[in-house]
Amino acid sequence: MYSDLKLGFRPPHRRTNNNHFIVLLGISVLVLGFGFALFGKPSNSFPQPDPPILGSVSFPTEQEKNECDLFDGNWIPHSDEPPYTHKSCGIIEDHQNCMKNGRPDTGYLYWRWKPRFCELDRVDPTSFLEAMRNKTWGFVGDSISRNHVQSFLCTLSRAEMAVEVYHDEAYKSRRWTFPTYNFTVSVIWTPFLAKASISEDDNGVSTSDIELHLDVLDPVWTLPYRNLDYVIISAGKWFVKTAIYLENGAVLGCHYCPKRNLTELGFNFAFRKVIRNVLRHVAGSRHGGTILYRTTTPDHFEGGEWFEGGSCKREKPSKEGELEMSEMNRILREIELEEFERASSAANEKGVDLVLFDVSPLSMLRPDGHPGAYRHFHPFENGKGNKVIYDCLHWCLPGPIDSWNDILFEMVMRKQ
Ligand SMILES: *[C@@H]1O[C@H](CO)[C@@H](O)[C@H](O)[C@H]1NC(C)=O
Ligand SMILES: *[C@@H]1O[C@H](CO)[C@@H](O)[C@H](O)[C@H]1NC(C)=O
Ligand SMILES: *[C@@H]1O[C@H](CO)[C@@H](O)[C@H](O)[C@H]1NC(C)=O
Repeated sequence: MYSDLKLGFRPPHRRTNNNHFIVLLGISVLVLGFGFALFGKPSNSFPQPDPPILGSVSFPTEQEKNECDLFDGNWIPHSDEPPYTHKSCGIIEDHQNCMKNGRPDTGYLYWRWKPRFCELDRVDPTSFLEAMRNKTWGFVGDSISRNHVQSFLCTLSRAEMAVEVYHDEAYKSRRWTFPTYNFTVSVIWTPFLAKASISEDDNGVSTSDIELHLDVLDPVWTLPYRNLDYVIISAGKWFVKTAIYLENGAVLGCHYCPKRNLTELGFNFAFRKVIRNVLRHVAGSRHGGTILYRTTTPDHFEGGEWFEGGSCKREKPSKEGELEMSEMNRILREIELEEFERASSAANEKGVDLVLFDVSPLSMLRPDGHPGAYRHFHPFENGKGNKVIYDCLHWCLPGPIDSWNDILFEMVMRKQ
C-alpha cells in the first residue's frame, strides 16, 4: 500500500532543467534567511503569562460534503469587531502583534469567511469550552502552529483566559489550561515532525547543517499523541532549508549543500517521505480522537523575496485567481493532498478519524493579513523604514486566521 513508486515526485513542470534547480536554490536561501527573520526564538519579552498557538488541518467528511464544504467560499466584508484585541488578550507574540506595532490600516480585520453553500457563524466560546470539558488538544508543527494556537486561545479568551501550566526553555512548546472547563491546549514545536538535529541559536543562526532523519518521527509529538483528544498537525517551509537527509542512520543525500559531495535530492523528496510516515503513523494508531492535518499556508511576498526587499502591502483580500501560488507552495501542497488521500482510506478502514483542515486556498486569498513591516514595533519611526524586513508569511493577530477557528469550531461542534 505504501510502495515507494511515487517517491520520484515531479513538480508540475521543469523537473529536469536548470530553472527548477534555480528555484530550489532561491527557496533555500529564502528559508535560511527566515531562520533568523521568522523562525527564530519567539519573543517572550512581554510580562504576562502567554498562551501559545498552533495549526490545524481537515478534509470534509462524506457527510459534510453533502451538506457543505466549509473550505469552498469567499471572503465577505463584515462589520463585526474582531473577537479580541491586543489589549484583551495578552498572549499575542510581538512579531504578529500588528495593532500594537502600529499597523495603520484596519480594513483587513473586517472580513469573514463565507462558505459558498452554507452559513458559518462565529462559534460562541462558552459553548465551545463547555463541549471541550475534560478534553485535551495539541497543535503540532512550526511557528505557524504557534501563530494558530495564539488565535485559538485569544478567541476563547472572551469566555475564559487560559492559564499557562508549562513551557519549555525556549517557549516553543507550551501548555495551557482553561481551569473552569478542565480543558488543556498544547502547542508542540517540531518543525519537521521527524527527528532532526537543529543547531540554531536564539537568533536562528545555524552552527551546522540540519540532519533530518526521514524515517524517524519526532518523539516530542508521538509520545503525547495518544493522550490528546484532538491533534492538529502541520509542516511546511522548514523543509526548504539546507539539510542532510538520513535514513536508517545512513546519509542518503541532501538539499542545497553545494559544499558537500552529496546527491541533491530536493526538498520535495524529504517532505513526501516525512508526511507519508506521519500520516501512516496516524492511520495505524488506533487513536480514538480526531486528527486534523492542516495544509501548509502560502506566503505573499511581492516584488522579490524577503531579502530582496519583497513586501506585502495590500490592504484587502484578493479575488480568486488574482494571485498565483508560488512554485514552492504548489509543490508542498500537491504532496500533502496526495499523501492525505493515500492515508485517509487506510485511516477509514481502521476507524481513525483523520480529517483534512484545508486552509491553504482560503489563506491564499489574504495577502493583506500578514504583519509585513509591522512585525517590528513602529517600523517607520526615525527613518528606520528603509531597512525593514517584511514578514509576509506569518499572520497578524487578530487577523484572517481567526477564521480558521470559526471553521475548526464548526467542524468540531458538528461531531458532538
Ligand atoms: C470531567 O471529569 C470529571 C472528573 O473525572 C467528571 O466528574 C465529569 O463527569 C467529567 N465531565 C465530562 C463532561 O466528561
Ligand atoms: C480533567 O480531565 C481529565 C481528562 O483529560 C480527567 O482525567 C480528570 O479527572 C479531570 N479532572 C477534573 C478535576 O475534572
Ligand atoms: C564525490 O563522490 C563520488 C562518489 O561517491 C566520488 O567518486 C568522488 O571522487 C567524490 N568527489 C570528491 C571531490 O570527493
